[in-house]
Amino acid sequence: MTSFLCLTIFTPPTSTKTLQNSTSHRRSESFLKQTHRFKISCIADRDDDEKRLILPETQKLILPTTSLDTANVDRRNLLLGLGGLYSTSLNPAAFAAPITTPDISTCVPSSIGFDPTNTVRTKACCPPATSKPIKKFEFPNDRATRIRPAAHTVSKEYIAKYKSAIKAMRDLPDDHPHSFVSQAKIHCAYCNGGYTQVASGFPKIELQIHNAWLFFPFHRWYLYFYERILGKLINDPTFALPYWNWDNPAGMTLPDFFEEDGKVNPAFDAYRNCNHRPPATIDLNYAGNDILGLSCGQQISTNMIVMYRQMVTNAGDPLSFFGGKYSAGDDAIANGDPSVGSIEAGCHTAVHRWMGNPRMPNSEDMGNFYSAGYDPVFYVLHTNIDRMWKLWKEMDIKGHTEPREPDWLNASYVFYNENEELVRVYNKDCVRLEKLKYDYEVVPIPWKYSRPVARTKKSNIALLSVETVKEAQDSKFPLKLDKIRKVLVMKRPIINRSLEDKENANEVLLIKEIMFNSHKFVKFDVFVNAQYDVSESFGDESEFAGSFGQLPHNHNPNEDMLMRSAIRFGLTELLEDIGATNDEFILVTLVPKVGCEEVTIGEIKVQLVPITD
Ligand code: C2O
Repeated sequence: MTSFLCLTIFTPPTSTKTLQNSTSHRRSESFLKQTHRFKISCIADRDDDEKRLILPETQKLILPTTSLDTANVDRRNLLLGLGGLYSTSLNPAAFAAPITTPDISTCVPSSIGFDPTNTVRTKACCPPATSKPIKKFEFPNDRATRIRPAAHTVSKEYIAKYKSAIKAMRDLPDDHPHSFVSQAKIHCAYCNGGYTQVASGFPKIELQIHNAWLFFPFHRWYLYFYERILGKLINDPTFALPYWNWDNPAGMTLPDFFEEDGKVNPAFDAYRNCNHRPPATIDLNYAGNDILGLSCGQQISTNMIVMYRQMVTNAGDPLSFFGGKYSAGDDAIANGDPSVGSIEAGCHTAVHRWMGNPRMPNSEDMGNFYSAGYDPVFYVLHTNIDRMWKLWKEMDIKGHTEPREPDWLNASYVFYNENEELVRVYNKDCVRLEKLKYDYEVVPIPWKYSRPVARTKKSNIALLSVETVKEAQDSKFPLKLDKIRKVLVMKRPIINRSLEDKENANEVLLIKEIMFNSHKFVKFDVFVNAQYDVSESFGDESEFAGSFGQLPHNHNPNEDMLMRSAIRFGLTELLEDIGATNDEFILVTLVPKVGCEEVTIGEIKVQLVPITD
């Protein structure tokens, strides 16, 4: 049992260290701590300055010594100015109206986002018809709160109950709104072109719940009804879904009860990657290949850091965490400035792909959105994603609040409830778990202590090698990501930001106009000021900002296969970690991992996102 051994050698943090000039005063004490991690020897000599040259005078020209944006400008005005620019320079449709799911009678079969000639699941993803009108949602008046347990902690009795509920769902005829197939199709309809924005006046524009700020609330509602339907099927009003606690070393293998058990296990799915059966340790930075030579201790350690980056460093404001604005008239993929949130693009995509079977034409089931709902694991992956929203909000960090824009609050979806009635539900009604009458079992959260270990030595970018500078200077946008690329990003709006500056604005690296092939699993990694061989990185260094990951997705069949997205990575903590808070420019290294042959990047810049309480 490799994974078991693995768990026994992971050591919890024992030391507390405050970073100089850190943002930590706004964080709870846990964030001040550093993790004890496993030293990975192959990267141990990266601080070596050998072979690096001081730039000749001419090359220094690319490194301005005064910040253009801060000269003679009052900082508060600058912040306000940037804030205004930030929120209005996007697609004007952003202020139009919220995304509104139309009547289900407008749903059409999905045809996009997968190889339509070679599918193992149906493309007819529309929900069963009904003549009844859509009802208004009412909050449950359950007496007890359903407590979702961590899957690795559940009892035999719970497992038996869970399996009997899934079996009851599988036993329903497919055209029943509560059937296993109907529930699976919900995901396909909302992701693979089942609906348009006709209810908001845009009948030609598809409705998409991934890749922007609907990701968390849509899945919260989806699970809410799925859980209540299961409870109803076994006549247990307290039934709660388990969550796959993959962010905790104790939960980093697939829970056993999803495996074949000699009988017919309703929680089993044949379309999974068989290399990733227990006791394989999950890779939360998965890029399509198992990393040879990475011990499970190193894997766990890397997973912890990846989680920290995605939950804290890269999640410092609502848009960075939830994803960018997406309102009526926006195409989540092809226009505007939709950006994907830190968790969605990161561990979420990784777990999907890690579970799906790479030998299937579309990596069914979990590796493609159209089929993901057919694997019961999908719902326990997503309960944990939903839990991340709760944990993020509870961190007591300024900026960790839901979007307040009316277009987010009033976006709506339509589901069959546990009484087979269609109800319309709004984002604004899913913000408080106590009103929805469910919660999560509390378990240790070790990634809270897993801020990457700060470099003791400043990452001295003035000592870049001549080749690096030349390469970075030669980079032209749109930048093709057919190989590792280096870019110098100039003019941070404010350098050496004060604690107050940091409280008022989140500094992010914005990677825009990422064009990618919608039929591929796409992933690239992003490093800041890395002065070592990034192709050997496991993603656990302080220079590792994070990844852009996309499952094969949908696209407009009338256009080419390219989709467009954007992503933000937090710089406030990262620049502290690498000792570069005073630098006016940063070196960004982009590392294609999978599916990046056609990827191009339109723009990379540093941006200040205002933080409000
Ligand atoms: Cu709707 Cu995990 O995706």
